[in-house]
Amino acid sequence: MCGIVGIVSTKEVSSRIVNSLRKLEYRGYDSAGIATIVEGNINEVKREGRVDFLEKDILKLNLKGDIGIGHVRWATHGKPSKINAHPHSSDQVSVVHNGIIENSTILKKLLEKKGYIFKSQTDTEVIAHLVTDYLKKNSLKSTIIKVLKKLHGSFALGIIFKDRNDLIIGARRGSPLAVGYGPNENYLGSDSYALKSMTNKISYLDDGEFCIIKKDQIEFFEAHGVKINKKVLNLSKEDTYYEKGDYKYFMEKEIDEQPSTLNDCINEYIDKHNNQINLYNFPWKMNLFKSIVLIGCGTAYHSCLVAKYWIEQNTSLDVSIDIASEFRYRKVRFKNDCLYVFVSQSGETADTYAALELCKKNKMKTCAVVNVVESSIAREADLVLPIYCGQEIGVASTKAFLGQMLVLYILSIKISFDQKFINKHEYQSKIKNLLLLSNSAKKTLKLDHKILNIGKVFAHAKGCMFLGRGYSFPIALEGALKLKELAYVHAEGYPAGEMKHGPLALIEEGMPVVVIAPRDDHYKKTMSNMQEVIARGAKVLLITTKSKDEITSENIWEIIEVDQLNNELIPFLITIPLQKLAFYSALEKGYDIDKPRNLAKSVTVE
Ligand code: G6P
Repeated sequence: MCGIVGIVSTKEVSSRIVNSLRKLEYRGYDSAGIATIVEGNINEVKREGRVDFLEKDILKLNLKGDIGIGHVRWATHGKPSKINAHPHSSDQVSVVHNGIIENSTILKKLLEKKGYIFKSQTDTEVIAHLVTDYLKKNSLKSTIIKVLKKLHGSFALGIIFKDRNDLIIGARRGSPLAVGYGPNENYLGSDSYALKSMTNKISYLDDGEFCIIKKDQIEFFEAHGVKINKKVLNLSKEDTYYEKGDYKYFMEKEIDEQPSTLNDCINEYIDKHNNQINLYNFPWKMNLFKSIVLIGCGTAYHSCLVAKYWIEQNTSLDVSIDIASEFRYRKVRFKNDCLYVFVSQSGETADTYAALELCKKNKMKTCAVVNVVESSIAREADLVLPIYCGQEIGVASTKAFLGQMLVLYILSIKISFDQKFINKHEYQSKIKNLLLLSNSAKKTLKLDHKILNIGKVFAHAKGCMFLGRGYSFPIALEGALKLKELAYVHAEGYPAGEMKHGPLALIEEGMPVVVIAPRDDHYKKTMSNMQEVIARGAKVLLITTKSKDEITSENIWEIIEVDQLNNELIPFLITIPLQKLAFYSALEKGYDIDKPRNLAKSVTVE
């Protein structure tokens, strides 16, 4: 979380820093700030809240300067406020930071003893004072080497100096950082996206490295100060800034885009002419693998859960799934015949990245399923399988979830066929079915008007439940997560058969419960579980698939029916009404749908 921008130029920088910060708001939006150097003075402007507010202040103050750093914050140490907003400055330096300094309390005490006065509650402020302290007796470069050594934890840093209006220091440990090359100016940014409007020439810092950015030169160093060379990557030229168009919210647009993003992804992976899957870059023989581990966080983790059912159903692989923040600290027994798959929309999630690094350290075979192909996770993994769904801005993930499931499903069929677990006819019939998905997704979106009214009830619930069996269980988890994230309603997803072991005690008169019961092998059992909650007063929204057989159960409050495709594809369709449900519930309450409270899109801290 948190976004960093820096520019060293011969022209004024503040408006361009603000523009780049706006693109980084997906990383954090509780406060924002900027610092520039003008005539040997550090000028800071900071604001609680969004970049738009910051911009107004900057315009009012007419902030000058040809060198500057900017930051959008997602609070870790200290509540969101103007005082805790970055940059944090001493009388000598100004610092922007993404990450957590784990030994900040100890360092703060030492610095206070030396007379340094702290203004904020942040861990970052220690860096400003530490740099100031070392600068008294050291050159700039050796100050940076020594300070970085002192800091425990993870960070991406941008530092400017009162007496050096010619350079910015960038440093990375754990949190991503890119530099960009421009005409007579150079840049620092949390990612290339923030810099894309200014340059398409980018280098990425690796862990432990730092750099000195001047307007006409960028030098890179490893942790001990030995100079290193970095590859300069040429990114695609167009600055694909993603707009809302006629939509009021990105999330609404992203939900509606799903038929076309599914289609785009299918076009990338399916050779429609020969009715087969294109995964030519798969670097290993399939029979090498006996097991597969799928790892992710949040919504991405839910896509792994769904994939577990597909892979178990269609291949002979042992499948495990893991939440990245758990995996990285467990005593994992690494196996050479296992494929480790990391699923992440942003490709920057700190826990997922650390889990990948752990596998790489143990020389495991790794695959990344990501949306952002220039991300840290994509760069590190042996194989990258993009989900091709275009930029996702809404903090709560929607189209990326369907994209992640799609790629994992395609991977499962590919393994299945290569393992001869299914024959050619079955393989091609699965592919043919997949080609129907986008159209059914389009039809599902048309159920909108009905969900709008249902959302009004869920919005005001004290709590609610989402129940499902088989593939529908992870979708229940995802439905509950979306409602929590957007409408701040306490929601739990449960395997429908598990209700009687405790959660049933929570059901009371009028409690809204979503029962996901497509006409699959679990239908009858789930319908019985539904009756158990109805009998205890629940107001049931049933999500099922269309059928000529009538629904015989009584007292169901509302029913939503999606197309009955091949059972394996139903998770895609039943997700859509749940996304809409969360959206309309949040809309009813007037919440900020694209930027829910306390959350951030890219979580680059542990
Ligand atoms: C954050 C986002 C979620 C997302 C999760 C994992 O919590 O708000 O929407 O699912 O991070 O992100 P990733 O980029 O790794 O998929």
